[in-house]
Amino acid sequence: MDRKLSITTIVLSLLFATLGIAQPNIFDIKSFGGASHADITMAFTNAWKAACGSTTASKVMIPRGVYKMHAVDVKGPCKAPIEVQVDGTIQAPQNPDELNDAYQWIKFGYVDYFTLSGKGVFDGNGETAWRQNDCGKNSTCKRRSMNFGFNFLKHSIVRDITSKDSKNFHVNVLGCTNFTFDSVTITAPVTSINTDGIHIGRSTDVKVLNTNIATGDDCVSLGDGSRQITVQNVNCGPGHGISVGSLGKYPKEEAVEHVLVKNCTITNTDNGVRIKTWPSSPGTSPITDMHFEDIIMVNVLNPVIIDQEYCPWNQCSKLVPSKIKISKVIFKNIRGTSKTKDGVVLICSKSFPCDAVELNNVALTFNGAPVNAKCVNVKPILTGPTPKCTTAAEA
Ligand SMILES: *[C@@H]1O[C@H](CO)[C@@H](O)[C@H](O)[C@H]1NC(C)=O
Ligand SMILES: *[C@@H]1O[C@H](CO)[C@@H](O)[C@H](O)[C@H]1NC(C)=O
Ligand SMILES: *[C@@H]1O[C@H](CO)[C@@H](O)[C@H](O)[C@H]1NC(C)=O
Repeated sequence: MDRKLSITTIVLSLLFATLGIAQPNIFDIKSFGGASHADITMAFTNAWKAACGSTTASKVMIPRGVYKMHAVDVKGPCKAPIEVQVDGTIQAPQNPDELNDAYQWIKFGYVDYFTLSGKGVFDGNGETAWRQNDCGKNSTCKRRSMNFGFNFLKHSIVRDITSKDSKNFHVNVLGCTNFTFDSVTITAPVTSINTDGIHIGRSTDVKVLNTNIATGDDCVSLGDGSRQITVQNVNCGPGHGISVGSLGKYPKEEAVEHVLVKNCTITNTDNGVRIKTWPSSPGTSPITDMHFEDIIMVNVLNPVIIDQEYCPWNQCSKLVPSKIKISKVIFKNIRGTSKTKDGVVLICSKSFPCDAVELNNVALTFNGAPVNAKCVNVKPILTGPTPKCTTAAEA
C-alpha cells in the first residue's frame, strides 16, 4: 500500500471511530440471486429478511440495472436501522392482475429508522390499468395496486427515488410518525386516472420536502387523521393540486390538524390548494389550523378553494350540509394566475360555517385583472391586497 493512502486510511478510520460512525452491513440483492433483467421478488424479499435480522445498521442494495418485480410486502420490526438503496429501475408487471389484488405493489411496514434512498426508478407500468379503469361509472370497479404502501413506520425517510406511472395512487402513508419525503420525484401523464402523488392518512409529523410531482390526480392529498403535516418546496403540476380531503364520507374519521403548505409552485392544475368535504355524509371530525403560505399559482383552474359541497359525479345530495367544521385557515402570500374569474372560492357548510379563515395578500389574476372571491357561509378576515367577497359567481 502506498504510504499516502495508508495514512489517509488510518486518519479516516480514526475519524470514523471518533465520530462513532459504523459502516452498515451490506445486503446486495445479487448475493441473493438477483440479476439484471430478472424478476427480483424473491431476491429482494430474502435480502430484506437477512438485513432486518442484522443487529447492526444494515443496507439492502439494488444496484444499477433493470429489474422486474411482483408484489412485495416486507415488514419489521428490525433489530437495527435499515436502509434500502435502489439505484436501478424496477418494473411492475404490465398486466394489473399479476399483482394479485395487492393494495400496493411494494409495502414496507412496522419498521423504526427505515430509509429508502437512491437514484432508482419504481416504474408501475400503469398504462393498461388506466385504460381499463371504469371507476368513474362503475362503483364496484376493480381496485388497482398503488406503487408504494408505507405503513406504521417511525422515524423514517424516503429520499431521492422516483415513482413513475403507478397503476393507482403512487404513495400511501398510513399510521406513520416522523416520516420524511425528501427530493423525491413522482411522475405520470396528466391523462392517467387516479394517480395521486402522495396520500397521507392517520399519521403524525409527516414532511414532504423538495419534491416534484407531476401526475393525473392530486399531487398531495391529506386524508383523515393527518396531523402536523408539512409540504414545503414542492413543485406540483400537472395534476389536481394539493388537497385536504375529501373528508366526511365515513362516520369514524379522525380530525385533520396543524398543516403547513409553504413555498410551493403549482402549475397547470385543476386546483391549487383545496379543502373538500362531502355533503349528506356522516363524518364530523373537524379540520383546523391550516396554513397555506408563499404559493405561486401558474394557470390554475381553482387556485384557492374550500368546497364543502364536494360531490363528484352527483353521487350525493347537496341538500344536507356537511357536518365538518373548518376553522383557523390562512391563505397568505398566494400569487400568480388563475384560469377562472372566481380565483378564490370558499363554500362552507350552512350547518357549520367556517371560522377564522384569513386571506392575507392573495394576489391572483385572471386575464391580467384581479380575481373575484366567492364566499358562502364564511366571513373571511381580509388582510393586505386581497379580493373582496362577492356571493354570486360572475361570468
Ligand atoms: C364493474 O367492475 C367489475 C370488476 O371489474 C366488473 O365485474 C363489472 O362487470 C363492472 N360493471 C359494469 C357495469 O361494467
Ligand atoms: C425523526 O426521524 C429521523 C430519521 O430517522 C431521526 O433522525 C430523528 O431523530 C427523529 N426525530 C425524533 C424527534 O424522534
Ligand atoms: C422554494 O422552493 C424551491 C423549490 O421548489 C427552492 O429551490 C427554493 O430554494 C425554496 N425557497 C426557500 C426560501 O426555501
